[in-house]
Amino acid sequence: MAIKLLFAGCGKMGGAMVAGLLECGHPGGDIIVVEPNPELAKNLSDRGIVAVSTPDDLAKSLVPDVVVFAVKPQIMDDVVPAYARFAGPDTVFLSIAAGRTIAYFEGHLGREAAVVRAMPNTPAAVGRGISVAVANGAVGKQQAAQCGDLLAAIGEVAWVDDEGLLDAVTALSGGGPAYVFLLVECLAEAGLQAGLPEDLSRKLARATVAGSGELLHLSDDDPATLRHNVTSPGGTTAEALKVLMEGDGLQSLLTRAIAAATARSRQLGG
Ligand SMILES: NC(=O)c1ccc[n+]([C@@H]2O[C@H](COP(=O)([O-])OP(=O)(O)OC[C@H]3O[C@@H](n4cnc5c(N)ncnc54)[C@H](OP(=O)(O)O)[C@@H]3O)[C@@H](O)[C@H]2O)c1
Repeated sequence: MAIKLLFAGCGKMGGAMVAGLLECGHPGGDIIVVEPNPELAKNLSDRGIVAVSTPDDLAKSLVPDVVVFAVKPQIMDDVVPAYARFAGPDTVFLSIAAGRTIAYFEGHLGREAAVVRAMPNTPAAVGRGISVAVANGAVGKQQAAQCGDLLAAIGEVAWVDDEGLLDAVTALSGGGPAYVFLLVECLAEAGLQAGLPEDLSRKLARATVAGSGELLHLSDDDPATLRHNVTSPGGTTAEALKVLMEGDGLQSLLTRAIAAATARSRQLGG
């Protein structure tokens, strides 16, 4: 029997999870969504999912297996208390909100509440995200598996025991898609400055990053081997890599960028 899922919020990330679940064969009738946005709610109802605009409209007898918090972190204070009534041995809470700690949810739901905190990323929209999850001591094996299955609907899943790692995870894979898109923008600009027409430069940059990502995804080789495969000794790529790999090159830039994002995540998480 499929598990009963209750989503608080079903925008970009919640919507990607629901779409992934339906694609994996999860029955729409076992998904309930609280979503005040009427357009999103109608779209969900059209797919056989029960959508209500407020938690007050949920059946009193409802006991969901998993409650997914997929609203913006800024409104979490207003959202979470209405779900505290589900805290108990039969329900696990899964939050995908950036920066909201397990202690934060325990504060609202009670120390006995089973809570999983996860950090997904935006390639979830095409089923190719990666989420890192951490559970508190109240989460049972089966509940962890249920949350893992849910996150697997939007891509890969990794678990950690140390919640402190989520700051660096947020910096690396949470924000990572933005750095890759910036790489596309920078490559396009560099091509323009090397004399390429703007349209062609943009097209080349976009196709090169997308194609390289797909090659990496499908290949068994590690990224260094794939890099060596395009680098002839004394050739043009080697010349560019000399610039990128010198002391203050790409590694130094990315190390600083990830450190800055990690520090900011720590600060936002209090
Ligand atoms: N997008 C990312 O890159 C990303 C990555 C990792 C984690 N996350 C996390 O995922 C969570 C959701 O982000 P998102 O990008 O999916 O945001 P989003 O697209 O804005 O979705 C949130 C949805 O919740 C709805 N909502 C507002 N108030 C609500 C309430 N009281 N009860 C239930 N639903 C309510 C919003 O409706 P309205 O539009 O009408 O306000 C919206 O449809 C955030 O906590 C974020 O930190 C996002």
